[in-house]
Amino acid sequence: MSYTVSQLLTQDITFQPIEIKGWVRGFRSKRFIALNDGSTINNIQCVVDFENTDETTLKRITTGAAIHIKGELVESQGKGQTVEIQVTSIEILGDSDPDEYPIQPKKHTLEFLRENAHLRTRTNTFSAVMRLRSSLSFAVHKYFNENGFYYMHTPIITASDAEGAGETFRVSALDAKNPPLDDDGNVDHKKDFFGKETNLTVSGQLEAETYAMSLGKVYTFGPTFRAENSNTSRHLSEFWMIEPEVAFMDLAGNMDLAEDFMKSILAYVLEHNREDLEFLDKRLLDEEKTKPQAQRSEMSLIEKIKFVVDNNFKRVSYTEAIDILKNSKPNKKKKFNYIIEEWGADLQSEHERFLVEKHFKCPVILFDYPANIKAFYMRLNEDGKTVRAMDILFPGIGEMVGGSQREERLDVLKEKMKALDISEEELWWYLDLRKYGTAVHSGFGLGFERLVMFATGMGNIRDVIPYPRTPQNAEF
Ligand code: 4AD
Ligand code: MG
Repeated sequence: MSYTVSQLLTQDITFQPIEIKGWVRGFRSKRFIALNDGSTINNIQCVVDFENTDETTLKRITTGAAIHIKGELVESQGKGQTVEIQVTSIEILGDSDPDEYPIQPKKHTLEFLRENAHLRTRTNTFSAVMRLRSSLSFAVHKYFNENGFYYMHTPIITASDAEGAGETFRVSALDAKNPPLDDDGNVDHKKDFFGKETNLTVSGQLEAETYAMSLGKVYTFGPTFRAENSNTSRHLSEFWMIEPEVAFMDLAGNMDLAEDFMKSILAYVLEHNREDLEFLDKRLLDEEKTKPQAQRSEMSLIEKIKFVVDNNFKRVSYTEAIDILKNSKPNKKKKFNYIIEEWGADLQSEHERFLVEKHFKCPVILFDYPANIKAFYMRLNEDGKTVRAMDILFPGIGEMVGGSQREERLDVLKEKMKALDISEEELWWYLDLRKYGTAVHSGFGLGFERLVMFATGMGNIRDVIPYPRTPQNAEF
C-alpha cells in the first residue's frame, strides 16, 4: 500500500509491505536515503540493500531525484528516527543532476532561494512556511464559518479605488501603442473593454459592505494589488487580504472581533502545526544568534505566538499614542526620522514599532485617528475631527490590520466625498446603502502575508508568499 512520509511516521504500521514516492534529500554511505514528500518536515530514512542493488541505480539516487520505493517499515536500528524503511526495490522516477541541482544539502541564503523560488519548497524552511500558510488560510475559513459569516468573492477588476491612494494597476485591453483618442486628445476609455477606466482592486471592502448590509456577516479573502513603490520587507504589490464586514457592529465590536479572530487562528496552528513551528523556532533562534545582543528577541517564535494568544491586546487612542510618542526618548533626542511635534501627525512605521516593541511590548490597537489621515468611508466622531478607525500593530511586523466603523450617514458621507473629490456617480451603489436601510456597520482588513510572517518568524514578506510580486520583480 502507498503511504505518505507523515503517515509512515505517525501510524502504527510496522512490518507491513509499504510503498512510497518522494524526493531524495540526501544519500549517504550508498545505504541511507533521506526521503521527503512534502507531507511533513521530517524525512523518512530508507535503508538500501546495496549489495543487491545494481551500481547504475545507486548512482542515480542523487539529491533532488524523484524515486519510488517498495519495502518494509521496521523499527529503526539507528539513532534519530523511530522507524525506517528496509528497501526491497527502488525505481528512479526522475533523475536529478547532482552538480547542477540548486538545492544542495547545505545551508542556502534566503536571497539565493528567492531566485530559485520554484524549488525552494524542497527545503525544510520553505516547506514549513508554506504548510503553515496553508494551515492559516484553512483556520481563517474555519473561524468565519463557525461564527456565522458568509464567504463572499469580491471582484478583482473594479472601477473604484477604495483606499483613495491612487496606487492602482490599470486594466485595459486597448492597444497600448495606438489607443483610441477622444476629441480632446486623451485616451478614450469609453472604447476600452469595460467602457470605462478599470483597475485591479486594492480592497474588497466597498463591495463587502453591500453584502454585509443584506447577509449580515460576510468576509472576503482574496488577492489585492497595490502599485505603491515601497521596496520594504513588509510590502508586496500583490498580497492577500482577509476582510470581514459586519452589520450592526460598532468600532468596539470590530476590535473584539479582530482580536478574537487573530488569537483563534494562531491557536489553531499552535495545535496543528507543531513540528513545523518547532523547526522554525530553531531557525529563528539561529538567526537571532547572528545579531548583536541588544537586537535579539526576548522570546522564541512559539513563545511569541503563545503570548499573543494568551494576552489582551492593548487598546490605545491615537491621542494617547501621540502623547506617549511626543514624550518618548527617541523623539526628544531626535532619533526618529520623523519627529512627532503635534496632534494630527501621521504615524510612520518607526513610531508604530516604538509603541509596540519598546513601550507596550504587546499587540496594540490604535483607534480614533484624525479624519484627514484616513480614508473617506470612516465614521466621523462627534468631535468632528477624528474617525472611528483602528489599526492593529504587532511587534516585529508593524501594521497588521486596518479597519473602521463605516460612515452610515448619507449627508456626512456625501460631504466627505465632495471634499476629497470622489465621484458620487461612480459610487452611486455605495451611497444607495446609506439611502435604503442604512445602519452602523464595521469591518477590517488583515494583510495575510503579514500574519504569516508573524506565525513563521520570517523577516521578509517575500519569503511567505509562493511567488512575490514587488517593484521590478514578477519572475515565475
Ligand atoms: O490598511 P489597509 O490599506 O486597509 C484597507 O484596505 C481597508 N479597506 C480594509 C478594510 O477595512 N476592509 O490594508 C489592510 C491591511 C494592512 O493593515 C496590512 O496588513 C495589509 O493590508 N497591507 C499590505 N500587506 C502587504 N503589502 C502591502 N503593500 C500592503 N498594504 C496593506
Ligand atoms: Mg492601513
